[in-house]
Amino acid sequence: IKGKALEEAAGAAGPKELEGVRVRYLGRRGRVTEIMAGIRDVPPEERREYGQAANALKQELSERIESRKAEFESSAATGAVEDPTRPGEWRGLGREHPISRITGRITDIFRTLGFTVATGPDIETVYHNFDALNTPADHPSRDEQDTFYLENGDLLRCHTSPVQVRYMEAHPPPVRIIAPGRCYRRDTPDATHSANFHQVEGLYVDRDVTLADLKGTIAYFARELMGDDVEIRFRPHFFPFTEPSVEVDFTCHMCRGSGCRVCKQSGWIEIMGAGMVDPNVFEAVGFAQYDVTGFAFGMGIERIAMIMYGIEDIRLLYENDVRFLAQF
Ligand code: PHE
Repeated sequence: IKGKALEEAAGAAGPKELEGVRVRYLGRRGRVTEIMAGIRDVPPEERREYGQAANALKQELSERIESRKAEFESSAATGAVEDPTRPGEWRGLGREHPISRITGRITDIFRTLGFTVATGPDIETVYHNFDALNTPADHPSRDEQDTFYLENGDLLRCHTSPVQVRYMEAHPPPVRIIAPGRCYRRDTPDATHSANFHQVEGLYVDRDVTLADLKGTIAYFARELMGDDVEIRFRPHFFPFTEPSVEVDFTCHMCRGSGCRVCKQSGWIEIMGAGMVDPNVFEAVGFAQYDVTGFAFGMGIERIAMIMYGIEDIRLLYENDVRFLAQF
């Protein structure tokens, strides 16, 4: 009976058949159950041996049935079948994050203009983040309310502009770089603010670079990024490290200038700060000896992602909810 029972358990083609085997042998009226009950009729001196043998049989058969059952379950779970020609199963791939994707597009556009990519550290010195960028000692952005300081006196850069400084310290003109990277500001997070965000910095230094070159470069960039019908507008502004300084608006990508929720009905979206490199910055990095001028700009990537994809809350970009990310 043992051999037959084990054989039947091994031969069961599916969970149903296996359950049949279990009932036949181990069920309430099963063969093994009957054998166990039969101990009543065994002479006392043989009971010990009989009992041990019956128990061993029961044990071995239940184990065999259990392991067979586990086999059926795991093959159901993985869908494994004995068909080597069956096509592989598709596993969903992740996608490029919208921030990486837009950063990539921006760098590609500037690459076609001869810019190369430069980088700098997220943890910066006060010198590179502020002093060398002509930022006055009492400038509000230096405040602990706005900037994250480390115990050793360094800080988390609040813009990508220190990369300009580092690059010019290390390379003589001409300079044509863009510098994508993470920035940190002590903002209270809400739909349009995040303590950690991304910028792409640009710097162009050569003989006779003018504001017209800045405008032409930005206009070309805008059309490449947003399409031929985008318009740009320069508004006078102030940055310590550029003179003159401007803020650059693009017509709203969502409504093409007619006014919508994304641009708060104005038709325009502020995309970047820019300007002609201040002579004090050239002085700080040792460029005063050269007969050069230059322009610089810095744009917020989250901003651009939000208007290009119609994202209304910046925090969606950091939650890593795959239902959100799978849309891009
Ligand atoms: N660093 C400025 C900012 O974060 C942007 C900027 C960069 C302005 C380069 C002018 C030149 O707002």
